[in-house]
Amino acid sequence: MSSLLLANAQVVNEGRIVAADVLIRDDRIERIGTGPVPAGTTTVDLSGKHLLPGLIDDQVHCREPGLTHKATLATESLAALCGGVTSFLDMPNTQPPTTDRAALAEKRRIAAAGCHVNYGFYLGATNTNLEEIKRVTTADACGVKVFMGASTGNMLVDDPQTLEGIFAEARVPIATHCEYSPLIAENEKRYRERYGDAVPIEAHPLIRSAEACYRSSSMAVDLAKRHGARLHVLHLTTARELELFEPGPIAAKRITAEVCTHHLWFDQSSYAVLGAKIKCNPAIKTSADRAALRAAVLDDRIDVIATDHAPHTLEEKARGYFEAPSGLPLVQHSLLMLLDQHADGLYSLTKIVEKAAHNPAVLFGIADRGFIREGYFADLVAVDLEGTTRVDAAQVLYKCGWSPFEGTEFRGSIALTVLNGVPVFRDGKPVAGPRAARPLDFRPR
Ligand code: DOR
Repeated sequence: MSSLLLANAQVVNEGRIVAADVLIRDDRIERIGTGPVPAGTTTVDLSGKHLLPGLIDDQVHCREPGLTHKATLATESLAALCGGVTSFLDMPNTQPPTTDRAALAEKRRIAAAGCHVNYGFYLGATNTNLEEIKRVTTADACGVKVFMGASTGNMLVDDPQTLEGIFAEARVPIATHCEYSPLIAENEKRYRERYGDAVPIEAHPLIRSAEACYRSSSMAVDLAKRHGARLHVLHLTTARELELFEPGPIAAKRITAEVCTHHLWFDQSSYAVLGAKIKCNPAIKTSADRAALRAAVLDDRIDVIATDHAPHTLEEKARGYFEAPSGLPLVQHSLLMLLDQHADGLYSLTKIVEKAAHNPAVLFGIADRGFIREGYFADLVAVDLEGTTRVDAAQVLYKCGWSPFEGTEFRGSIALTVLNGVPVFRDGKPVAGPRAARPLDFRPR
């Protein structure tokens, strides 16, 4: 049995920060607090550091199978570990798309061979796979992803009967991308008439408009209420949509909301600096929208913070407005973004942990993870609030090789990531030795 003592940490967990030692035996937390330490224990002194549960990112696009020129499960999960993310849930808009149980099994096979964080996969909905959706359980998938607005990949679900069927019959949580495509198509047409192909990137949030978001989010919430379905609306971007959600603890909710780190960070002024690098769907909107999203994290209308990590190559991103793909790589820097915003007084450490670790675990019924509790898996990240992290191209681990944060110095650094009891990253460098990522175990709730 291996044993590891994380000594003198400030443990951030379940609304409190407590000075404690954490003893790990094999892959689980054995004890939080002082007591006898087995012979042969390796000790890591975490004086001055805060110890958080490893982040659980409930929305990433690692592009396997089929789009491996952009990313692979292996490359992106290594970047995730560096950033303190120890589990993620991967999206189905791959090639082929993940729309049946055979495709889910293939993803699990790829992940077992090379993914460096604990993983789960969404089944993708289409207008024609309702029978498959009905059969899928938490043994197969963390949830079903429904593109109620078209985005990267061609997975739009817009057939009213199919949507009714999904919300009536899915046995796993329903996660939706909400943007009303007919309105977006009208807006695109108007902008094309005016600018031809040379639409300025600043128009993106006007084309993928706040109205398009609201029309679709309100439709999803209405469907969920009528069917009593378990709905998680992904990546909210507008103040107005927030009126669709209730404040309060996640355990009591059937309808939940997610925000992504880039929508909490950037606003419309960022397009002038970063151009199509920050083109994403739903679009980054106004500073007023961003302020409302930040407030909704605090009042618990928003339940989860994730990334929508969506890597594309720089060559792809350099194309014109209509051809540049949407999405940006984020998973290596999501915790650093949140720590930097903590330094600005935006969120407490306990709030960050609640939204980025506890709540995804509760929402998806992830067994024994997401909290620092005795008996739980030791997925942990130690951070140094006094440190800084400068992002440059050499620090970026994504296969696409770039980050929108190059040149940024975040306040905060990630000192140590522990995955299933094993130290895997230390001071930004991978620790040599075997890593043991696992498939996540989802328990229906
Ligand atoms: O910006 C986005 N990129 N939004 C999505 O919904 C998909 C994602 C991707 O896969 O590139």
